[in-house]
Amino acid sequence: MKNGKFLTLAFESSCDETAVAVVADGREVLSNVISSQIEIHKAFGGVVPEIASRHHLMNVNAVTEQAIEDAGVNWDEIDLIGVTKGPGLVGALLIGVATAKAFAFAKRKPLVGVHHIQGHIGANYIAHPELKPPFTALIVSGGHTSIAEVTYYTDCKIIGSTRDDAAGEAYDKVARVLGLGYPGGPKIDKIAKEGDPNAIKFKRVYLEKDSLDFSFSGIKTAVLNYVNSEKQAGREINVPDVAASFQQAILEVIVNKAIFATKKRGDEKLVLAGGVAANSRLRAMLSEACQSNNIRLYFPPIELCTDNAAMISSAAYYLYKQGKRDDLTLDAYPSLPL
Ligand code: KG4
Ligand code: ZN
Repeated sequence: MKNGKFLTLAFESSCDETAVAVVADGREVLSNVISSQIEIHKAFGGVVPEIASRHHLMNVNAVTEQAIEDAGVNWDEIDLIGVTKGPGLVGALLIGVATAKAFAFAKRKPLVGVHHIQGHIGANYIAHPELKPPFTALIVSGGHTSIAEVTYYTDCKIIGSTRDDAAGEAYDKVARVLGLGYPGGPKIDKIAKEGDPNAIKFKRVYLEKDSLDFSFSGIKTAVLNYVNSEKQAGREINVPDVAASFQQAILEVIVNKAIFATKKRGDEKLVLAGGVAANSRLRAMLSEACQSNNIRLYFPPIELCTDNAAMISSAAYYLYKQGKRDDLTLDAYPSLPL
């Protein structure tokens, strides 16, 4: 405790960010340190799991010290340790889990494992101090695309999910086809601004009537086929047009399904989370759709959209308040249902 506030220190290492944060009372960020490995993985066009684990191991202690220092606290004042327990890359997760357990043991602190998606939702509690469940949540990231009903801080049920690729994965794959580099999401976001979203009509995949599930595995092939046939016909590819049209095709489906789910549940609030929540076009389209449907939209600032540990601290805090505790048998779970 410091100044009467409950301090949670949490670790996030599910993919290529080694992150440690200290958050007060589940909502106030005292420090949020992120050591990104993007530059390292860029050379391979995607995250290499073994390399990610090694770098987590190399960096985690320094990142932890930095988080403590930036927060201006000492270990005695930390009340709880949180950590992402899954889903994610198993080797990467293990570094965070092992470090969290080691500190919990050595410093005699309670420990709580957090589901990564619950963490992404938690980013919104930090960004919007007045936000309370219930609400509908749309989680779009490199590893997940889901719609969830959130009935309490700790109660979250998935009501729709991708059946194949995640939205961020589709962005990254299409960016590779277009030669834009890794990670593709922010690159497509930027270049699409100069393109025409209606230039090429890529198929909108809605699946069965009223389904809240997604499928994004076909779009990469559709873009690839388009690029190849244009090349064969000797025409030059207009990259901004292709990027804008691809983005339009998947975002229209995402926005329509999210609004449909929110209305169907009778929720007044829609909460956006995950790395793709940083996308400017998605934010604009959802804002407009929410406005015309009388739904209040919440999303975090860009730095809390992509992986970070502040969001894990927030989720760990609410789990702890609900009586959740883990012990030193806590493990890493690469595919963890919510
Ligand atoms: O949440 P996150 O950091 O990691 C996972 O939990 O997966 O999300 C990373 C994903 C990547 O696929 C990245 O390309 C995508 O989020 N992303 C974006 C944008 N910024 C990050 N996608 C579209 N537009 C963006 N501005
Ligand atoms: Zn994530």
